[in-house]
Amino acid sequence: MAYLKTVKISRRAWHDLEPELLVLGLFQEQNLSPFHRDVDARSGGVLSDRLAAGDFSGKLNETLMVYSTGPARRILMVGMGKQEEFTLDRLRQVAGTAAKTAQAGRITQVVTEIPGRETLKETLETVSRAFVEGMILGSYKFLDYKSDQEEETVLQSVVLIHPVSRKGVHRAVTVSEAVCFVRDLAAHPSNVVTPTRLASEARRIARVPGMKCTVFGRQQFVKMGMEAFGAVARGTDEPPKFVLLHYTGRPGAETSVAFVGKGITFDTGGISIKRSKSMHEMKFDMCGAAAVLGVMKAVGQLKPEMNIVGAMACTENMPGGHATKPGDIVRAYNGKTIEILNTDAEGRLILADALSYVAKNFNPRWMVNFATLTGAVVVALGHWASAVMGSDETLIQEIMKAGELSGERVWHLPLWDEYSEDIKGKVADVKNIGSPGQAGTIAGGAFLKEFVGDISWAHIDIAGTAWWDKDRPYAPSGPSGVGVRLGLELLNLLSRAGG
Ligand code: BES
Ligand code: ZN
Ligand code: ZN
Repeated sequence: MAYLKTVKISRRAWHDLEPELLVLGLFQEQNLSPFHRDVDARSGGVLSDRLAAGDFSGKLNETLMVYSTGPARRILMVGMGKQEEFTLDRLRQVAGTAAKTAQAGRITQVVTEIPGRETLKETLETVSRAFVEGMILGSYKFLDYKSDQEEETVLQSVVLIHPVSRKGVHRAVTVSEAVCFVRDLAAHPSNVVTPTRLASEARRIARVPGMKCTVFGRQQFVKMGMEAFGAVARGTDEPPKFVLLHYTGRPGAETSVAFVGKGITFDTGGISIKRSKSMHEMKFDMCGAAAVLGVMKAVGQLKPEMNIVGAMACTENMPGGHATKPGDIVRAYNGKTIEILNTDAEGRLILADALSYVAKNFNPRWMVNFATLTGAVVVALGHWASAVMGSDETLIQEIMKAGELSGERVWHLPLWDEYSEDIKGKVADVKNIGSPGQAGTIAGGAFLKEFVGDISWAHIDIAGTAWWDKDRPYAPSGPSGVGVRLGLELLNLLSRAGG
């Protein structure tokens, strides 16, 4: 847990704040605002000098550190790209770049205004939120296993010069903390973040008014009829957990939204074992469950007036003397039989039970699941978007909208009935793989669809977005914490839609 913790708002002038570092955003057009001109004037013209010399072009995320004898010893210029192309997500990026550059210069305190806010059409609250999210998420580092933390500088505090929305800052801090919590959970290895650990994190999250946590162990959930989940968990000695969080923000009303997450704390593939190259990355196979935890953690603090359920199926997928074998047949919670032809397509098995359990026991108005379900989605969309598919066009549209607003983009894939032909079983009702080489991501969705009944449902495949091998402006390489900002934005939209 290392990230920017203190965000203050000040109505004082920048030069009274004795900034260790002053951040200035500049568009490519290099049109100076009154704020820029004031800084320039009080700093001996250092900005206009560097601009005239052509040292800085203003391209998005370009940086130039300048030194002055004025009120701020250092001024960091951050490029914001072309003014007409500026967006909320570019603002997040600029903020993240500023935080990272400050840290690289071993600077722990920053003063800044929110740059470019007049250019954006969004409200001051939304703009303030995006900027603070960018700063906190950009400052994030996972240092838990570094013995020598002295080497690492993490930004400690930011002072934002008015106008800033206090509400926006507050929400950004809550949301970003939840994202960093998810990044941490995912970054920990599988010998630390076990299903038991995920369950205990859920119990901790439930320590707020209105939140309840229920955890079922192996014997209990198998007895309840969750044989598909049981089949995946057979090969491991690490105790599996079915974890439920239940938040009541509107007593007496029905459950409006349920989030369901894939929590495979390590995916070896089981008997259909994976190649060893990159297998270590399969510690990230719990990112769906972690996203649900992150959403529920923030829900507990933001307290929306809705009833929300979070469900997580958590287990390792291991080979072993008791492990499920290709061809084995099990009966899921909703009574459908499944032929398990590939034990590496385990995510859809645990979700089959989790989705049908939530559908039957909570009957939510909307049900959304997050899962690192298929390698095929990385082929289709790369790392830039999660795939969404489901049974309700309206819900999917709201998810796409939430994706744009949050910066966690989502792209819609079809789930036409014809795709269900591919997962029809030979001897059982369904099989857990589609036709080789054909629409692998959609086959996963078509399989899940068999277990949701008539609930309005969407499946979000985050296998390409849950972690990256490259640094980005507001996320270091590693787990991204995807799903938290998307899910919370979706709750916002759905509550307006009468959730
Ligand atoms: N956890 C994997 C999906 C995955 C692969 C996520 C690569 C991130 C990166 C999932 O359990 C899996 O192994 N899926 C198989 C399904 C196949 C056997 C139908 C896959 O994608 O190869
Ligand atoms: Zn797998
Ligand atoms: Zn998996």
